[in-house]
Amino acid sequence: MSSSLDDIDLLAGTWGRGVPHDQFDRLRKEAPVYWHPEPADTGFWALTKYDDVKRCSHDWRTFSSERGATFIPTQDEMALESLRLTILNMDPPKHERYRRLVSKGFTPRMIRMLVDDIERRAVRVIDEVCEKGEVEFVEEIAAQVPVQMICEMIGLEKDLWPRMFELSNQLIGSRDDPDYQELPGGPEAGAMEVYMLCDAVAADRRANPRDDIMTALVEAEIDGERLTDPELNLFFITLIVAGNETTRNLINHSLLALVENPDEAQRLRDDPSLWDPAVEEMLRWGSSIHNFRRTATEDTVVRDVEIKEGDKVVLYYASANRDEEAFPDPHTFDVARTPNDHVTFGGGGVHFCLGASLARAEIKATMRQVVDRLPDIELTAEPSRLHSDFVNGIKKMPVRFTPSPRSN
Ligand code: HEM
Repeated sequence: MSSSLDDIDLLAGTWGRGVPHDQFDRLRKEAPVYWHPEPADTGFWALTKYDDVKRCSHDWRTFSSERGATFIPTQDEMALESLRLTILNMDPPKHERYRRLVSKGFTPRMIRMLVDDIERRAVRVIDEVCEKGEVEFVEEIAAQVPVQMICEMIGLEKDLWPRMFELSNQLIGSRDDPDYQELPGGPEAGAMEVYMLCDAVAADRRANPRDDIMTALVEAEIDGERLTDPELNLFFITLIVAGNETTRNLINHSLLALVENPDEAQRLRDDPSLWDPAVEEMLRWGSSIHNFRRTATEDTVVRDVEIKEGDKVVLYYASANRDEEAFPDPHTFDVARTPNDHVTFGGGGVHFCLGASLARAEIKATMRQVVDRLPDIELTAEPSRLHSDFVNGIKKMPVRFTPSPRSN
């Protein structure tokens, strides 16, 4: 192995400084299938090329989500048993049954009902801040629409929404980040509280069905089978983690991209027809999930490199999204980039993100309000980053802008 790769370090400590694009550039060139040691664990294969990320995502038979689950740290059998109750950590046929059931809550009609609401919500979010001139972007702007939509999907009453924001921070950030580890009770207590909130809503919808996602989920039935209560609860935990932080952070990174590339923001103001490609570019650029893991189910080969049965294989989406063989000039943020078949929602196949259309609508509505109504927005301090090798997170990002009147 080339000695120039000795200082490659994709372990948790690296990510608090931002995505290590310099390391990924070298890995794609010099060792696209790279054996990454872990001091207290088995080590893993780091896949950094676009084609490899896609291929492994599609080939669930060889690269299992279930066998060792989808997070990098090796889990004991007891932990695996509970992880395998969530959709991300299932392979077909188990995955197929579960996905078909939960998809009943994500029909195009259900999503349309939500999407109609998103733009109005984004207008209100900016109404709340536009007169202030100085705000904390993450909590007051980026987090708002995604957390509101999750609460809406679960069917929670409005007074519980701020608590849901706290709980979702606790659930996602707790693995590596000291700020969140200090929260009382840790992730387990947070999860229990979410279960209780969801149980209450589920019981209500069984008794009083409505035209909403929770009702669709409690009533979903395939071949006489329904989701059990624990399955339903775990699905909501997955939604909170998968749908909330990801979209919030994508919006954070979109702001950073536009502040660093003011000409691109101006292009959007001059030509609003660019918004659809712009959202895809924001997704490619922001890649809010760093990676998911697979486990090889048999000896196999990727790019002439032998991978042994049982090896951990990690798919690095942010690297695939900057692969020069898939995206010309990949480190340039170009709101008109087409085609733009990024892997931010996964590399395709059975686990492709269930919330992709919802996330796209949330990002577009929020960023459009920011670009059009806060045109001179700028950072007043360096953003503080989440210490996580999983979520590309920004915890705080103070901004200022010229105050402007509310929309009504
Ligand atoms: C920018 C925002 C988002 C990003 C970057 C993102 C990313 C991803 C990725 C990479 C996967 C694939 C996992 C794998 O292959 O192992 C995934 C799956 C999933 N996402 Fe998203 N997601 C986003 C928004 C959402 C939203 C808004 C929801 C729901 C409201 C959601 C729900 C899910 C679910 C349930 C899965 C699991 C699907 C399965 O295993 O079959 N995501 N997401």
